[in-house]
Amino acid sequence: MLNGKKVFALSAAVFLGGGLRVQAQQVLPPSSPTGIVKTVNGVTLNVQALRPDVLRVRIYPADRQPEDASWAMLPPSRLTRFPVTLEESGFRTPVLRVTISADGRLTVADLNGNILQQDAAPAAWDGGAFRVTKIKTGDDHFFGLGDKPGPLDRAGEAFVMWNSDTFGWQESTDPIYKSIPFFIQMRAGRALGVFLDNTYRTFFDFGRERDDRYTFSAPAGPLDYYLLYGPEPKHVLNTWAWLTGPTPLPPLWALGFQQSRYSYMSRKETEEVAARFRSGRIPADAIWLDIDFQQKNRPFTIDQDRFPGFADMVHTLSAEQFHLITITDLHVAYLPNQNYAPYDTGKAGDHFVKRNGQDYIGPVWPGPSVFPDFTQQQTRAWWGTLYKQLVADGVSGFWNDMNEPAVFVYPAKTMPGDVQHRIEEPGFATRTAAHTEIHNIYGMENSRATHDGVLALRPNERPFVMTRASFAGGQRYAVTWTGDNSSTWNHLRQTTPQLLNLGLSGFSLAGADVGGFAGSPPPDLLTRWLMLAAFQPIDRDHAVKGSRPHEPWADGPEQEAIRRRYIEERYKLMPYLYTTAEETSRDGLPIIRPLFVEFPHATADNHPLDLDAPGEFMFGPDLLVADSPSPEEVAPYEVHLPPGIWYNYWTGERLDRSAPIAARDNEIRETTAALPPIMVQPKLDELPIYVRAGAIVPMQPVTQSTSEVPNGLLTLRVYAPGPGASCSGEIYQDDGATYNFRHGAYLRQSFTCSIAADGALNVDVAKSEGNFTSWWKEIRVEVIGFAAKSASTESRAITPEKTSLGSAVTVPSKGGAMHITFQ
Ligand code: NOJ
Repeated sequence: MLNGKKVFALSAAVFLGGGLRVQAQQVLPPSSPTGIVKTVNGVTLNVQALRPDVLRVRIYPADRQPEDASWAMLPPSRLTRFPVTLEESGFRTPVLRVTISADGRLTVADLNGNILQQDAAPAAWDGGAFRVTKIKTGDDHFFGLGDKPGPLDRAGEAFVMWNSDTFGWQESTDPIYKSIPFFIQMRAGRALGVFLDNTYRTFFDFGRERDDRYTFSAPAGPLDYYLLYGPEPKHVLNTWAWLTGPTPLPPLWALGFQQSRYSYMSRKETEEVAARFRSGRIPADAIWLDIDFQQKNRPFTIDQDRFPGFADMVHTLSAEQFHLITITDLHVAYLPNQNYAPYDTGKAGDHFVKRNGQDYIGPVWPGPSVFPDFTQQQTRAWWGTLYKQLVADGVSGFWNDMNEPAVFVYPAKTMPGDVQHRIEEPGFATRTAAHTEIHNIYGMENSRATHDGVLALRPNERPFVMTRASFAGGQRYAVTWTGDNSSTWNHLRQTTPQLLNLGLSGFSLAGADVGGFAGSPPPDLLTRWLMLAAFQPIDRDHAVKGSRPHEPWADGPEQEAIRRRYIEERYKLMPYLYTTAEETSRDGLPIIRPLFVEFPHATADNHPLDLDAPGEFMFGPDLLVADSPSPEEVAPYEVHLPPGIWYNYWTGERLDRSAPIAARDNEIRETTAALPPIMVQPKLDELPIYVRAGAIVPMQPVTQSTSEVPNGLLTLRVYAPGPGASCSGEIYQDDGATYNFRHGAYLRQSFTCSIAADGALNVDVAKSEGNFTSWWKEIRVEVIGFAAKSASTESRAITPEKTSLGSAVTVPSKGGAMHITFQ
């Protein structure tokens, strides 16, 4: 594992530093095998080690080796190889043992003999279709697979990958918008990531057909999968980011509150909504325009009657610290000879997909439409140029909707499978491909074209693109949301598992329409939704046409006050949230995480604690949000905290949840299993949040937007660790917009604390790194869970002030190191 980590760090540096540059491939002498190739009964198994902890498995009828290419993965990682030690029926790496049986069944185990994955039968072929069948044990749990609704754990369920426009989807609807054929198997506390790199309509069954088997299958395309060994889930997530790229650092404003509706119908209405946020002092950063800002729903046009002086409106909003995001759907209105530039230039460049030799025409919002062939590099480049005017007008971000693609023909609701794409792409053979092969990556390539196009137009600004459809790796180009959910309590509840699984699948920046898209939320539902979403990565309120107003002030001053308070809390936590987003952009750990990612051994039998606590998740590394598992209920509910000491985020109350007991695998570990859960009485205006002991959480004064410079101090909330334990935290800052951080224009400062032998609490602030100067001149160090009577820095004694949570001292800071002792 250590070796694995090192390899990750080395390769990661290549693509994280300055974009996705191709790394020189490791050239190995012929005497160093990197895996094995074995043909059994006419079927070839090719198992290669990319790293000690990462394997690639390709299986194909011996006479039909498929093309070796990938839309999902970063070439430098995908092509890396690691030397292995051959054994009688397989090989060994420094951490894994691979065995192939005489009939072609694969077993992967760790070096202690724990079986991580085992074929129940050799891969089965039927023409070009295949099925892989693995043994499933009673301890197996499955996470990931993108935006699929339903419980967090996929065990016992079956799923199909086929990007689909599913207005009003429900918990049982499958497939929906995205196809991310990546999952994490947790078996007795050991994590193994599995990625099937196949873009066709694939199928995953996690024990629905047979409780002791799980399978993945496809009607066509390569049988090509990767195994990412943990054993820690965090390590698998690091590796997934190494293979497909982490979610990049967004512009800071994208972490602010965002207001949308289908649709704000005029310039006047848009400006009024923005003004109401400011007059009501509800923090917000962005406002969204849906399809009605365009002329007859035609992408890249503006309805000048309803939105006169569009650029002027953008500047007026910008002066009020609002970023504008506009929708730019991919369907190009079929308007020959009508001076509609997207059609004319697309036609001139032959950029549209074809059926029977003609441009394929299908109906969407503008009526008959044509569809760019995003599998061609030159088509993506042309698409990017369409953003020129909107970028010149000052539009900050772009929304790629309907890109499954949705086509209003029934029942398929997409383009026919025999539509032809013409792949022209580095790393791929130049060839035509049927839509059945391309369908699931079409939305991702649309968002890639937008991302790259906007980046070319504004080379030193981080693009913000939101996509509805995507595939594995799509997080490199766009954030996402969960499409057309509904204004029901069940959909509010559903946001937690759905956004957690998206995060585990690589999409760290994801949101669900706040308040629900279809229908109209009652006031208490909208309030609860706004409260919870304040702790979700993308916080965007959106609503369908004809629904009642959804904005935070919609239900009178009492509801508005609660909603404001939670949005304000998000802004106070902005330094923590941005620091977490920056970490994500390096290590791939999602902003919100299931408990098992941070605490994989929280239960005696190693089952993920999340199964007992479906309303809970980690917001960043330290905050545990504990919503009710059935938020419409009035009865008390159970909160399960991982072992250790916790603090109530709102009151500072200390909760000791340590209880060492013998676990099933004979290790003694701290577990809450012996402790009864905490019972929480739900209240409309209270969302329980806990902070783990040993956290140092950076916070700022409330601002009305992320563009406003905070007026006051940086607060460090130091949550006292237990005896003998230490604590740490960090802050990352930069200009929030550009790539200047790559050239040193950032600030990173880390904090630690420990309890000394004499009982004193020592807090150390390290010297800041980087050459960005941030807004604070003083730091307020607030200690929670430690009764401080006095405090001192190296130079002087300070009397701590009492706060509602604990006690605090304020010290000047110019970025230098300092040491504070509380006694
Ligand atoms: C479907 C999207 O999911 C929804 O968010 C949007 O409002 C409508 N299309 C109209 O553009």
